[in-house]
Amino acid sequence: MYSFAPDAGMSKPELYRALTEAAEAITAGEPDGVANMANVAALIWQFLPELNWAGFYRVVDSGLVLGPFAGKPACIRIALGQGVCGVAAALAETQLVPDVHAFPGHIACDAASRSELVVPVMREGRVLAVIDLDSPVLARFDEEDAAGIEALARVVASAI
Ligand code: SME
Repeated sequence: MYSFAPDAGMSKPELYRALTEAAEAITAGEPDGVANMANVAALIWQFLPELNWAGFYRVVDSGLVLGPFAGKPACIRIALGQGVCGVAAALAETQLVPDVHAFPGHIACDAASRSELVVPVMREGRVLAVIDLDSPVLARFDEEDAAGIEALARVVASAI
């Protein structure tokens, strides 16, 4: 049994440090990328408040394909350059979207989503996947969240 959990009253940087350490611990020594993404999606869901979706899209051939996640069933395939995830993957750049309704081409998998953070997972200059977080709260994510998920993505990069 695993018992990773955030402590009450942690600051945002502390929360992300704890999340990243938990991800490092849970993926250590496990070569199966799907299992590791599944556990990391579950950790994100457990550690971060105010989410309605958290998970992975993997780069397969020349598009994104749904990977392990927590939340409602989601769109399976996204073309590179389409939606927030496709733009993050195509540009290899984090996308911090305070209001998804203002993002041209946003793909609404869950009508409850109001803000979104998408971070590429990179290895040797290539985008392997993206981590996608959705929130029902407008402007839920800030630069600290982006930095925290980017740190998590560096751990994930060697585990998938
Ligand atoms: N909103 C995303 C699609 C994926 S779902 O949010 C899970 C996008 O615009 O790429």
